Amino acid sequence: MLGGMDGWRTIIEPFRIHAVEPVRLTTREERLEAVEAAGYNLFDVHAQDVLIDLLTDSGTGAMSRDQWAAIQHGDESYAGSPSWYTFLESVQVLFPYRHVIPTHQGRAAEKILFSVIGGPGKVIPNNTHFDTTRANVEASGAEAVDLVIAEGREPSLIHPFKGNMDTESLDRLLTARPGDVPVVFVTITNNSGGGQPVSLANLRAVRAVCDRHKVPLFLDACRFAENAWFVKEREEGQGDRSIPDIVRDFAALADGMTMSAKKDGLANIGGWLAMNDDALAEKCRTLLILTEGFVTYGGLAGRDLEAIAQGLREVVDEDYLRYRVRSTAYLGDALDASGIPTVRPVGGHAVYIDARALLPHIPPLAYPGQALAVALYVEGGIRGCEIGTVMFGRQPDGSETAAAMDLVRLAIPRRTYTQSHIDYVIEVVQAVAARAKDISGYRIVSEPAALRHFTARFAPLAA
Ligand code: F0G
Repeated sequence: MLGGMDGWRTIIEPFRIHAVEPVRLTTREERLEAVEAAGYNLFDVHAQDVLIDLLTDSGTGAMSRDQWAAIQHGDESYAGSPSWYTFLESVQVLFPYRHVIPTHQGRAAEKILFSVIGGPGKVIPNNTHFDTTRANVEASGAEAVDLVIAEGREPSLIHPFKGNMDTESLDRLLTARPGDVPVVFVTITNNSGGGQPVSLANLRAVRAVCDRHKVPLFLDACRFAENAWFVKEREEGQGDRSIPDIVRDFAALADGMTMSAKKDGLANIGGWLAMNDDALAEKCRTLLILTEGFVTYGGLAGRDLEAIAQGLREVVDEDYLRYRVRSTAYLGDALDASGIPTVRPVGGHAVYIDARALLPHIPPLAYPGQALAVALYVEGGIRGCEIGTVMFGRQPDGSETAAAMDLVRLAIPRRTYTQSHIDYVIEVVQAVAARAKDISGYRIVSEPAALRHFTARFAPLAA
């Protein structure tokens, strides 16, 4: 059962479908029109015009029967709602931090934290900052630095924990900038680096460096359960341990966390900030009340707190995680077998196509990732997301440089698409790859000052 447990090859979804949502078929002509009207920016395409939406795994998963039932228990009391205590208990079972501060999503937690501890002259290292994380660090005036291990920047290189942090570089940074680093972050899994996991051993080594320099360590824990599954599968001595135990080990090595419950909370919205430091928590709660809401609901309705509490119980289930990670690998392995360059090994929540390698005739500043993402949409109505020079190329000083990699992420919403949807995706990607040399690059027509990938408009360059 469940692809792997008793040795069967077929991956089956460990659920049956209880409510269905239609997807809308469109013609190639309609998609061409839609993407042109959107200025070739897939964030501006109407979701109705997308067949398989792999833009993000965030907030787009299917909730379970028990989550929908939990929503009926939502209590909307302003202060001290029972739903808050249900949520708090569910969070603290896995992450036993003294202070848990609910927020409407992950970036709200980041904004509050970096407003308090960031600022000009500060520098915040991470294995790799996610786009909104980097933007929130920079918005405070601080500098965001990525210190993933060198293997993590080589798409085709196989390494079990490509999300690991380079502890020597971290040590050098903390030695060179004493007093300037208010916190060290580690993102599990490393989303911008290919959804790659971080090992417990690496986090222990990071902790040792932080201790030596007396700097706190925080987790960006959006995909903590997928990370724990990889640790169980790949790290020596972890194979027989339970997922919650592995998660608690990660939590114990850090002083706090930011979380988007839209990923491994299995919910449509939500997040939190947690920590042990009383004084820091007090400052964060003051900002929370100004910007999000009272301390027992943050930006969330009571029913959202209930959905997250139940989601956290379900996400550590081993049948779910086995299916989750194997079904993502199913897509990645099929693309790999057809010679399509991807980030290897496959991460937990997404497959990342190496657009720079697939489209070597398009230089980074003509955005090969954007070109590939648009081609996948036009070809088959599949919406992926560029993670490359469009997302990361514009520097705070206004200059433009190539990002470390030009990737297209096909993120898999949790429990949402079936294997036949994924077989269709494989067919479409193969068709686009077969005519890769005919795909041309793009130029940017207009862009905002920051986070340009969300709203920039593009025009195709002549072939
Ligand atoms: N950190 C990481 C690693 C993330 O992947 C995200 C969101 C956030 C923080 C912010 O959380 O969306 O709840 O505010 N990632 C989504 C994605 C949007 O598509 O990867 P949020």
